[in-house]
Amino acid sequence: MKLWAGRFSKEIDKKTNDFNSSISFDSRMYREDIEGSIAHAEMIGECGIIDKSESAAIIEGLKGILADIDSGKLTIDPNAEDIHTFIEGELTQRLGQTGKRLHTARSRNDQVAVDIRLYLKKEILNLKAQVKELITVLCNKAKQYADAVMPGYTHLQRAQPITFGHHLMAYAEMLLRDLDRLECAYKHTDSMPLGCGALATTTYPIDRTITARLLGFENICQNSLDGVSDRDFCMELASALSIIMVHLSRFSEEIIMWCSWEFKFVELDDAFSTGSSIMPQKKNPDIAELVRGKSGRVFGDLMTLLTVMKGIALAYNKDMQEDKEAVFDAVDTVKMCLTAFTPMIDTMRVLPENMRKAAANGFINATDCADYLVKKGLPFRDAYKATGTLVALCIEKNTTLEELPIDEYKKICDTFDEGVYEAISLENCVNGRRALGGPASVNVAAQAERVLKAIN
Ligand code: ARG
Repeated sequence: MKLWAGRFSKEIDKKTNDFNSSISFDSRMYREDIEGSIAHAEMIGECGIIDKSESAAIIEGLKGILADIDSGKLTIDPNAEDIHTFIEGELTQRLGQTGKRLHTARSRNDQVAVDIRLYLKKEILNLKAQVKELITVLCNKAKQYADAVMPGYTHLQRAQPITFGHHLMAYAEMLLRDLDRLECAYKHTDSMPLGCGALATTTYPIDRTITARLLGFENICQNSLDGVSDRDFCMELASALSIIMVHLSRFSEEIIMWCSWEFKFVELDDAFSTGSSIMPQKKNPDIAELVRGKSGRVFGDLMTLLTVMKGIALAYNKDMQEDKEAVFDAVDTVKMCLTAFTPMIDTMRVLPENMRKAAANGFINATDCADYLVKKGLPFRDAYKATGTLVALCIEKNTTLEELPIDEYKKICDTFDEGVYEAISLENCVNGRRALGGPASVNVAAQAERVLKAIN
């Protein structure tokens, strides 16, 4: 029997019931629904809206239902309209008349809003812990490889020498901002909508501060229309999660490249790699590829939420039932990705010799060669041109700047002397870049320490 039975003379059409129902995806909020109901029952009891003894009986009944769902004694009816209806129905079955008093001064509109907020608050804390875990892994690895020279790239062309630690810390910084964004989403989720009713609060003498306190909300939604019909906290979370996925996806792309024989900068642990069904030699970075691929789902979830919400007049409309699958999927996906990604990074074998070899080719110290001439008084443009000519000569002779004899240098520009070899040694190139944010080993180690401190 439906909640609205009084007004209707027929049951809802069976297939339409399936279409209308949200139980398949909102039943995961059973705990939050019950917590919200317990707080509501306590508040209406305290405010004298229902009898104190009935309030106590309802709370006991709800606790029993929670325990029975948790233990598997009670299964959630897949034909129920939604989790709110199911739990209220179950309560009424257990308590009779008293159960029917729970919904006094409440609507499913403020009920569903409080459920999602309670659910997402917990999940945001879980997500933050997972992001912190990844940042910690990155900082520790960055300290370990603070002086592992590798080529830095622009346009995927070898550009200037950096260290592997510096490269990893770039991702740590991105994830640090991701943490901030999650924090911000948390803050906006932490507002209590109960008491907003269907849209315009209620004439009962409710006290919303009681429910806010019981449920651990920092704030109370200040406008009832807004409280029941805003889902910007879902969009904000999906947007923060989308940005996390952009970061994980870029990182994954690099891992995939680094695992190739063309780079071989890292080797993933067997526990985080897969083989081929036909090619016996293959070891594939499937986990990184899947993370890269799953970013598409999360962006899709964000797009779903934005599109669902963009054209609906205030206040609640059933369109909003579409919020849950999208935001839950975004949360589930990012959690799953981080669960696999973090240990994959933690256990990967770094191959600094190969990075060093790649850094030795590609003239990534050419800028330093030009800077050497500038420090000796040449204008940068002249120094740039002389170095360019040297690079062309090296390519012609199939050699490197390090190996080119000093006479050849002097033939192109007589400002050069033996000191150039020290100036272009890769270690000096890296460690000379000590400006704030630079790749010098001391900087990287200090940055990793600073970030570790910031998240602990
Ligand atoms: N299942 C609904 C949802 O997720 C609950 C709220 C129903 N409210 C209503 N007025 N039909 O949005």
